[in-house]
Amino acid sequence: STPTMDTLIALCKRRGFVFPSSDIYGGYNGFFDFGPLGVEVKNNIKQAWWKDFVHRRDDIVGLDSTIIMHPKIWVASGHVGGFSDPMVDCKETKLRYRADQLFFQEFTFTPDGEGDAMNHFVVVVEADDMNTALAERASKVARLLGKQAEGKVRAAPADGAAVIEFTESTAEQREAAFGPDATTAGTLTEPRDFNLMFETKVGPLADKSATAYLRPETAQGIFANYRNIVDTGRVKVPFGIAQVGKAFRNEITPRNFLFRSREFEQMEIEYFIQPDADWKTLHREWIDKCIDWLVSIGLPREGIGEDVHPAHKLSHYSKGTTDLTFRFPHGVQELWGIACRGDFDLTQHQEHSGKSMEYFDEQQKQKYIPHVIEPSLGVDRTFLAVLAAAYCEDEIPNDKGTPEKRSVMKFHPRIAPYKVAVFPLVKNKPELVEHARKLYERLQNRWNVFWDVSGAIGRRYRRQDEIGTPFCVTVDFDTIEQGTGVTVRDRDTTQQIRLSEDELFNYLSEKIDG
Ligand code: GAP
Repeated sequence: STPTMDTLIALCKRRGFVFPSSDIYGGYNGFFDFGPLGVEVKNNIKQAWWKDFVHRRDDIVGLDSTIIMHPKIWVASGHVGGFSDPMVDCKETKLRYRADQLFFQEFTFTPDGEGDAMNHFVVVVEADDMNTALAERASKVARLLGKQAEGKVRAAPADGAAVIEFTESTAEQREAAFGPDATTAGTLTEPRDFNLMFETKVGPLADKSATAYLRPETAQGIFANYRNIVDTGRVKVPFGIAQVGKAFRNEITPRNFLFRSREFEQMEIEYFIQPDADWKTLHREWIDKCIDWLVSIGLPREGIGEDVHPAHKLSHYSKGTTDLTFRFPHGVQELWGIACRGDFDLTQHQEHSGKSMEYFDEQQKQKYIPHVIEPSLGVDRTFLAVLAAAYCEDEIPNDKGTPEKRSVMKFHPRIAPYKVAVFPLVKNKPELVEHARKLYERLQNRWNVFWDVSGAIGRRYRRQDEIGTPFCVTVDFDTIEQGTGVTVRDRDTTQQIRLSEDELFNYLSEKIDG
């Protein structure tokens, strides 16, 4: 069963997967750091994706474009004009709300974790000087809302924001707290668009012309390089360009741990097709490929769903979008967006840059601007899904054969932070330790390997179960005295087999490298 988000957050911190960013300063809302185990999992996700979608295909090439690009790109793409969420400010308290969360009349107040309905009311308190202002502002909001609604403050002080959540309230309580028409009581500004792009300045000039943006998606770097890549002459429609990299969005209310953060990573492909291609069939093929890939890194097939966007919900550029959803700890939510963007982006860039985006199709003997299918996946959301799927508590027999509870991370071997652990059976036999150490170093040339000499062997297995190492290799007396190889213990079945050291490499390679 899916663990709760709190369980996952605590586990991530305890075992060194994920820490709040700037932790020693109280954290920074919407930003996270990946610790020693987390960075391994994250790299493995990105490498598996790159291997399967770039190296193992001859129709997709890679790219690494910059985070800050010419600001005209974001005008052409529509992000300067339209990449925003509605927001209102309270004139008295200067509190800032996401308008769709403020108009509580439209909400259904359901207990946590049911469906994707807005399940609690969230107020973001923003203050410049957190040390003095946080408590004051928070209590002001509590007063504003009235005592009847029971709330708790989830503070993220360094950000200058506190989130007050009301997980349970009745219609009467809300009316008592807000008044029948609190939103039009004259204290709030009209809703206005809050652009989600982070702004910065480039160069020594401080005026408007120096304004640039941190990219909110990696996709535009691909469109901006389409011409360069076509002109290098190696690709023919249909072909794709893939990119992995950071993206930034100034989310008004970042929530649900890694699910919605302000700095995250995307793995995106723009797959260019002929304008008259059967895009519906190609779209379907991409959806199926993406599902298969998620299963190949260990997500349960039954946890993956499809959310087909109805026509009125489509983004301005899209002819059709299907989101692959996943059963996250906080509900069923979008994991992977697979959109048909038509020729929107290339046409926009042709208009704004004055450079032709036409492609000459040698077979068809005609020029056209290709259309595009875009599978866009978040690394951090995948990380969260992988972690939730791997989390498991079961019972296995201990050394004496009595059942014992264990906590185990059942990562797919491709994704596990450590692939193998190597143990000498005992630590006071130098010959044995030396032999194990040599094997460890040989394995290290191929994979990330854990070395552990301390404690009873059962405890050492348990330690590896907790961090999700799929295989434990033990060098024992038979290894050195009889030359009968080593034991390999499987994390999930806890079964052990004996293999020669040469067989070991083939065995592991088959299981790990996918
Ligand atoms: N180029 C298309 C695009 O960016 P999107 O649906 O806005 O589309 C694609 O984002 C994917 O990026 C999402 O499905 C999600 O996995 C990830 N993503 C988007 N916003 C995110 C955020 N604030 N935090 C973490 N991941 C995010």
